[in-house]
Amino acid sequence: MNVIFMGPPGAGKGTQAEKIVSEFQIPHISTGDAFRLAMSQGTPLGVEAKGYVDKGLLVPDEITNGIVRERLAQPDCDKGFLLDGFPRTVAQADALAEIVDSLGKKIELVINLSVDRSFLLARLTGRRICKSCGATYHVIFNPPKQDGVCDKCSGELYQRSDDTEEKVGTRLDEYINKTAPLLDYYQKRELLREVNGEQDIHAVTEQISSLLRGLA
Ligand code: AP5
Ligand code: ZN
Repeated sequence: MNVIFMGPPGAGKGTQAEKIVSEFQIPHISTGDAFRLAMSQGTPLGVEAKGYVDKGLLVPDEITNGIVRERLAQPDCDKGFLLDGFPRTVAQADALAEIVDSLGKKIELVINLSVDRSFLLARLTGRRICKSCGATYHVIFNPPKQDGVCDKCSGELYQRSDDTEEKVGTRLDEYINKTAPLLDYYQKRELLREVNGEQDIHAVTEQISSLLRGLA
């Protein structure tokens, strides 16, 4: 199955992707994770991306499209893939259509996690991530058993540099101006399904799983 997760920053895309790829055994392709990894390694891509990510701005389309083009051509994507955080502009969606077409694949479903803006600031400023395995927590909504320590691997938890109140504001503006128009784009192509991302984490997973089981 070839699926896209959409939704504003903090909607729960990464949290749900973690569960869904483990259930359906497909690769999780997150452009945000790809940029953060490159930034932590200080590669040329990381240095370039940092100037945008740290300001809460979208990285230019050509750079982002190149990453996805390369990743989707890998053999493990033949059994399906979950795109998280891509596409985020109409130009990226057009590029994706061309990429999947050239690989003889097609996008089967676009799931939009809808969450009102009023929820997002608290979700993002309270988020903590494991340095070792990347698992996501929340200090109130999904706390680890031991403060600051990952339940899964005992790794140290950290806060993302773009999860400050100021940067969250910029990220939400970028979402509204550049990404929200994609809902209409995929609605017109009859690929869009809405899932209420304001429910608890487990209820959201159940709803997504049942949509995906319909595809399998
Ligand atoms: P990216 O990493 O994609 O960030 P994002 O879209 O802003 O999304 P987040 O990861 O912040 O949120 P999420 O929806 O995954 O929420 P999560 O599950 O963690 O992108 C970062 C940056 O990279 C961008 O700003 C840009 O610069 C660049 N970039 C990436 N892709 C790009 C692209 N295609 N083009 C250009 N630039 C790009 O959940 C958030 C918190 O809420 C967690 O603490 C979680 O525990 C909690 N939570 C989750 N679900 C629930 C729930 N149901 N109830 C209560 N709490 C919940
Ligand atoms: Zn961990």
